Amino acid sequence: MDITAGVGELTTQVVPPSRPVPTLADDVRELLLGSPRSLPPKYLYDEAGSDLFDQICRTKEYYVTRTEDALLTNVVGSVAATVRPATVFEFGSGMSRKTPQIIDACSRVGPLATYAAFDISPDALHAGGRALQARHPEIDVQLFVGDYTAGLDALPVPEGPRLFLFLGGTIGNFPETEGIRFLRDLAARMEPGDFLLMGADRIKDHQVLHDAYNDSEGLTAAFNQNVLRVLNARLGADFEPEAFRHDAIYSEQRSQIEMRLVATQPQTVTIGRLDEQVRFAPGESILTEVSRKFSRESLEHLVRSAGFRLHRHYTPDNQYFSLVLAGFEGSAAR
Ligand code: AVJ
Repeated sequence: MDITAGVGELTTQVVPPSRPVPTLADDVRELLLGSPRSLPPKYLYDEAGSDLFDQICRTKEYYVTRTEDALLTNVVGSVAATVRPATVFEFGSGMSRKTPQIIDACSRVGPLATYAAFDISPDALHAGGRALQARHPEIDVQLFVGDYTAGLDALPVPEGPRLFLFLGGTIGNFPETEGIRFLRDLAARMEPGDFLLMGADRIKDHQVLHDAYNDSEGLTAAFNQNVLRVLNARLGADFEPEAFRHDAIYSEQRSQIEMRLVATQPQTVTIGRLDEQVRFAPGESILTEVSRKFSRESLEHLVRSAGFRLHRHYTPDNQYFSLVLAGFEGSAAR
């Protein structure tokens, strides 16, 4: 594997999916042109979308990032002492804003040789990777770009204890079956001494949840509408993002935020590269993201049913967010 680890010359390795992953065109044909209309959330994170998400993280309403960061600060010492990793492997790292404190803690307790990050967004990956390499020139920083849910096979298997990070509550964006499949794939690759540290958002006051996805600066709305610009750019479509209204509601029944784009007027959109037209009636919507919220029990159940041994469950006093540290369960669970 050719990876240059000098500052400013970090290279990203494009990871080919190890099982067939639908292309954007496939997803649009099946999901956007289907009924009910939807899109996989990964397309929200192009360069502009990743940047908007970064801004969302700093709004007063979006407690998620702030809560997870504070919790991490409190627990990284304990996690580092438990795992003493030679390698930290992060999925969905984005700009890796939370990574430095974890890396710092791990290098304090022992020699951390490698940090590997895997994300769908090359721009965010590069920005985060460069910052981390500048802070830790002694660590081999490796960047992988692609769909990590189908990319585990292509990844290197470095020696020594490994700490896998899956932070931010991203597990909540996967449909239940896909989330569990990814965790199972990961569990199957773990060896004794390896751990997963996963963040998950918790069920809480509905107003708090609602406000987090309806920030007063309109950043979440812009983030949501941006996915239509992605379709315009990549598929030659002519969506007018302003003709769709941001809608994010908390479904108590399904314990999840459901984010949609709702057509505010009748419109016909042409998707040039697919030679398709889509008609939207006023009020017709596209489901663009689901963000599941967990109870203590549902989260622990998820971790265990994916084949991990639950080692620690960290949560702040208000229980707004959870970090679970899960280990190797042994051959019985594979
Ligand atoms: C990055 C996927 C965890 O679900 O809270 C934030 C994405 N969407 N605001 C989340 C998001 C709208 C976020 N995750």
